[in-house]
Amino acid sequence: MEAAVRTSGLRKAFRATVALQGLDLVVPTGAVFGYLGPNGAGKTTTIRLMTGLLRPTSGTAEVLGLDVATHPDEVQRRVGYLPGRFVAYPDLTGAEYLRYLAALRGGVDWSWVEQLAERFDLDLGRRIGTLSHGNRQKVGLVQAFMHRPDLLVLDEPTTGLDPIMQAEFLTLVGEVSRAGATVFLSSHILSEVEAVADTVAILRAGVLVRTATIPELRAQVVRRWDVTFTDEVPVEVLRACAQVAEVRVRDRTAHLVLAGSAEALLRAVAPYGVENIETHEADLTEVFLGYYRHEEEEPWPVA
Ligand SMILES: Nc1ncnc2c1ncn2[C@@H]1O[C@H](COP(=O)(O)OP(=O)(O)OP(=O)(O)O)[C@@H](O)[C@H]1O
Ligand SMILES: [Mg+2]
Repeated sequence: MEAAVRTSGLRKAFRATVALQGLDLVVPTGAVFGYLGPNGAGKTTTIRLMTGLLRPTSGTAEVLGLDVATHPDEVQRRVGYLPGRFVAYPDLTGAEYLRYLAALRGGVDWSWVEQLAERFDLDLGRRIGTLSHGNRQKVGLVQAFMHRPDLLVLDEPTTGLDPIMQAEFLTLVGEVSRAGATVFLSSHILSEVEAVADTVAILRAGVLVRTATIPELRAQVVRRWDVTFTDEVPVEVLRACAQVAEVRVRDRTAHLVLAGSAEALLRAVAPYGVENIETHEADLTEVFLGYYRHEEEEPWPVA
């Protein structure tokens, strides 16, 4: 099957700033594809190139089998797109705005719009300008999903959503994915996409540094955990865990750097009276640092 998105040598320069340096990306049809990278990495630029809102400096992007440069209108009609900073007409109500878009796009089942609004607990009768940031984001999400597009391109979709709405969003992504849609979503937080994505690509300074499946990434990602024990820290037990790359002890708390799955660690410490475990968000840049204790293991390549 052809890829839902295929970019080839895609490059974008804004005067002196090279935002994207020759990106070759393939998003398989039906995938939930997480596009990760720190601020300024070039995620939004990639998305705007994919949706025909920006012209590449060089290279090509093909979306749903269409060359974006020659078919921008058709691409925009067929893709469900949520921009990073969603803006809509503030004087229209949610319903007025969505009806307007539905008329432009065609093929929208209004009862699906109402279902989406209900699921996101969004009042369609309110003027968009009076909505909170999170509720405005929900209008953006509804417009992206409402025409049941084959491809969703979502730029930091959960920005401003509370945890319950984030969970609802992830459920919806799962549903449309099972129904056959491809979902491309950007984020700067690994934990946000790892629950829903099957593949992730990591971008840094306009360069794709890695594409991996979630299990591959989980096995490599470096995490920081603080484990507090009811008694003395069993330092030797911790050091004996293959996945523990670093141990620092302060009072009854062990500050650990974990490379890979935490399963063995959890089993090893279970008999020692664990009082608390504090986990820190995995830093994407640390994914590539290669914290390895065993010399026979190759550090992960920084492409
Ligand atoms: N219109 C523009 N004019 C000039 N520079 C731009 C423009 N748009 C983006 N850039 C630059 O391109 C680089 C990539 O920006 P981009 O918005 O794609 O990053 P991002 O990964 O989406 O970041 P964030 O996580 O902050 O949203 C940045 O250095 C940014 O300053
Ligand atoms: Mg962005």
